[in-house]
Amino acid sequence: MKRKLIGTLLSTAMVVSLVAGCSSDNASEQTNAPTDTGSETEAEAEGDAQNEDTASDASTGGAKIGISMPTQSLERWNRDGAYLDEQFRAAGFETVLTYSDDDSGKQVNDIQNMLADDVDLLVVAAIDGAALNTAMNEAAEANVPVIAYDRLILNDAVSYYVSFDNYTVGKLQGEFIIEQLDLANAGDKVYNMEITAGDPADNNAGYFYQGAIDTLKPYMDAGTLKVVSDQIDFDKVATEQWKTDVALERAQNVLSSFYADGTQLDVWLCSNDSTALGVAQAVTSDYAGSNNVLITGQDGDEANLKNIVDGVQTMTVYKNVSNESIVTIGLVKAILSGETIDDTLIPSFGIECAFDTESYETSAGNKCPSFLLVPNVITKDNLQDLVDTGLYTMGDDGYLSAAN
Ligand code: GAL
Repeated sequence: MKRKLIGTLLSTAMVVSLVAGCSSDNASEQTNAPTDTGSETEAEAEGDAQNEDTASDASTGGAKIGISMPTQSLERWNRDGAYLDEQFRAAGFETVLTYSDDDSGKQVNDIQNMLADDVDLLVVAAIDGAALNTAMNEAAEANVPVIAYDRLILNDAVSYYVSFDNYTVGKLQGEFIIEQLDLANAGDKVYNMEITAGDPADNNAGYFYQGAIDTLKPYMDAGTLKVVSDQIDFDKVATEQWKTDVALERAQNVLSSFYADGTQLDVWLCSNDSTALGVAQAVTSDYAGSNNVLITGQDGDEANLKNIVDGVQTMTVYKNVSNESIVTIGLVKAILSGETIDDTLIPSFGIECAFDTESYETSAGNKCPSFLLVPNVITKDNLQDLVDTGLYTMGDDGYLSAAN
C-alpha cells in the first residue's frame, strides 16, 4: 500500500496513478458497507482483493457505475462529470453518465434507467435533495449502494456522502471579509453589505450561508457590518437553481432600491461563482459608487477567475473536484470489495479529507458517514496555486483556462 498524504491542490495525473496503485488492508471485513450487492459477488469472483498494487483489482472487476450529475449549465458539474467518468474508466470500471438539466423528474428517470441497466453502484449529485425518493427507494430495493456526491440526498438509501466541508466554505468567505475589511479594528466605521445565497433545493446552500453568517454575526450584531436592504434571511436571499440571471436581477433591484442615492456598498457576500457572476455584472453596470466592492464566490469557474484577474470579483473558494472524484472512486472500490469504511481508508485516497459521522443526516437521527474534503481560498495573489494543480493553464493575458 502506498501511503503518502498529499494536499488538496495536487496534480490529477499523480493522484490517479496513486489511487490506481491502492488496494485494501482488510478486504474481508464489511462492517460499514451497505447491503450486499450483485457487484460484490462479481468482485469476489474476480479473485484476490488483497492483491495490492494491481489497477484492476477485485473491486473494479466488471462493475458498472451510474454517475448522475445535475446540469451542464454550470461549469463545475461538467468538470465533475468528466473527471468521474474518466477516472472510473481508467480504474477499470464501466460507467453510465447522465446530466438531468436541473429537472428533478428527469433525474429520477435517469437514475431509474441506470438501475434498469444493472448498474452496481450509483454516484448522484442531486438537483433537489428531497425529490429523489422514488429513484432512491428503487435503488434500495435493488440493493444498489448510493453515494451522495457533493450534495446530500435526504433518503436513507444513501450509504455514504462525499463532499467538501460545506460549512467551512461559508466560514472561509466570512473570514475573508473580516480580514479584508479589517473589521476587528473598524472602530465606529460601518461597512455596508448585501447577501446572495444558493438554491433552497440544494442541501449545501444552507450550510454555505450559515457558515458565512455565523462568522460575520458578531460584526453584524455590533453594527460594523450593515445589510442596508435588510434582506438577510436565507429565504430572502436564496437564488433558484443558482442561476446567474436570477442573481443579476435581484442585485439590480437591490442596487436601484437602496444604493441609487449614493449609499456606499462595500461587500457582497455571494455563496458561489454562478451567483457572483450575476452580482458582479449588476455592480459593474448599475452601482453608482466608484469604490471597489468586495465580492465572494465559490468554485473557481473560468469566468469568475477572469473577474478575479480583472478585480471585479475578489475571491473564490476553490474546491478541487478532481480530488473529490478520486476520493469517490477510492470509496467505491472499498465498498465493492467489502472493506471497512472509516478513516483508515483516507491514506489510500491520497487526498486530505475528514471522515465525519456526525454532521449529516439522511433523515432525522440517521447519520450519513461522510468524507469531507478541504476547500481553499483563491485570490488574485495565489492563482498560480491553481495552475500548479495541473488542472488550469494561464494564458499570456494572465487569464486561466481549465486544462483538458
Ligand atoms: C453546490 C456546490 C457548489 C456550487 C453549487 C452550484 O451544491 O457544492 O460547488 O457549484 O452547487 O452548482
